[in-house]
Amino acid sequence: MAEISNLAYVVLNASDLDAWETFATRVLGLQVGSRDERTLRLRMDERMHRVIVEQGEADDLTALGWEFDTRADLDSYVEQLRQRDVQVNEAEESLRQARKVERLYYCADPIGVRHEFSFGPQQAPLSSPFHSPLLVGGGFQTGELGVGHVFVVALDAEASVRFYTEQLGLRISDYIRDSHSIPGVAIDGVFMHTRSGRHHSLATAAMPSAKKLNHLMIEVKSLDDVGLAFDRVRAAQVPVIMDIGHHPNDRMLSFYMVTPSGFGLEYGWGGVVIDDANWSVSNYSQLSDWGHRFALPAVQ
Ligand SMILES: [Fe+2]
Repeated sequence: MAEISNLAYVVLNASDLDAWETFATRVLGLQVGSRDERTLRLRMDERMHRVIVEQGEADDLTALGWEFDTRADLDSYVEQLRQRDVQVNEAEESLRQARKVERLYYCADPIGVRHEFSFGPQQAPLSSPFHSPLLVGGGFQTGELGVGHVFVVALDAEASVRFYTEQLGLRISDYIRDSHSIPGVAIDGVFMHTRSGRHHSLATAAMPSAKKLNHLMIEVKSLDDVGLAFDRVRAAQVPVIMDIGHHPNDRMLSFYMVTPSGFGLEYGWGGVVIDDANWSVSNYSQLSDWGHRFALPAVQ
């Protein structure tokens, strides 16, 4: 069976691209790949983009870009989706070019997020290596693990998880059922991974939310870069959602801040990579082992 390799990119829509450019470059340590009136492309490595921010009014998640290692894998995956009665379309030329891939298909999930399936991403020219003046410890953890992870809010958690696992073929990593950390909100989170093994590329739970995207996580290779980012966040007076803490399931040390679009961004280090040969699915009863103290109301 053909499987997704990794979550290669995310597409966000934002009402204020200038604010995003400042936030991404001066706080997060991303690099602008290109910018025009409608689109801000942000680099984290040798790729042309990992985070695409498109001008829009929703200030939310538009699309998730799942990647395949070979054209044959992508073609048989699309065939498989059709056999599973997923309405999947080949992307029009303009979308394919915008994503800078050789081949692109897409479908929608139960909450209306577009899932894009691609093969053959364009790399930035050798003469333009990734450079961040802010990162000290070797850059972002991307490569075959992809851009990071997203936590999306489900309307019907069972339907969403069924779609992600039975139709898209994501693998369950584990569960966190926590009714204590956020007053008045019981979280029943499901965490899912792809073949390349980042602990989760996609997680979901039903919870009160005005947005589909709860947070995007990006990971750095050095713990120092988490601390330095935390200092930059404080200096720039970016609102912190949760201060530094540690998750029991992906063992990520991280903190959460508010993006210019209002959803969260988790900045982390040390996440687990799953080897399916030695992995068993666990249930956890708390979101965090320590820290992650809420600095803002958890539900907005
Ligand atoms: Fe996360």
